[in-house]
Amino acid sequence: MNRRELLKASCAFCGLGLVASSSLLESCTKINDTPVGPSANFTLDLASAAYSVLLNAGRYVYKNGVIVANTGQENFVAVSQTCTHQGCTVQYDNSTQHFICPCHGGTYDKNGQVLYGPPIYPLKNYKTSLSGNTLTISG
Ligand code: FES
Repeated sequence: MNRRELLKASCAFCGLGLVASSSLLESCTKINDTPVGPSANFTLDLASAAYSVLLNAGRYVYKNGVIVANTGQENFVAVSQTCTHQGCTVQYDNSTQHFICPCHGGTYDKNGQVLYGPPIYPLKNYKTSLSGNTLTISG
């Protein structure tokens, strides 16, 4: 093998290595889309002292492992309150409409999908429906 053939073979080997390593990195950073959280089926009475806070945009409550937040204009979102990374309790940030984990900065969108940080799995998302003062959470 002469010098030219050796260089060609080396470049081909390096190129193959780059393709393999980029595929490996992509698979390592791929977010898993299996949501994590308990099943839920409960109601909140927004006329009660315990849950009337939800009448205000940006406020949130916890019940039965679920965080329920008012995103404004009588729109509500509900996701599992337990961060899928190491189990800390997430909080709702109305300025971004994100759920944020105070432990390591895991951040989820309002539907519970991972935006950034260490979590791999999304938070389970629940259906919300308002009838009068009764907010139903299910899923
Ligand atoms: Fe939530 Fe680590 S426990 S980001």
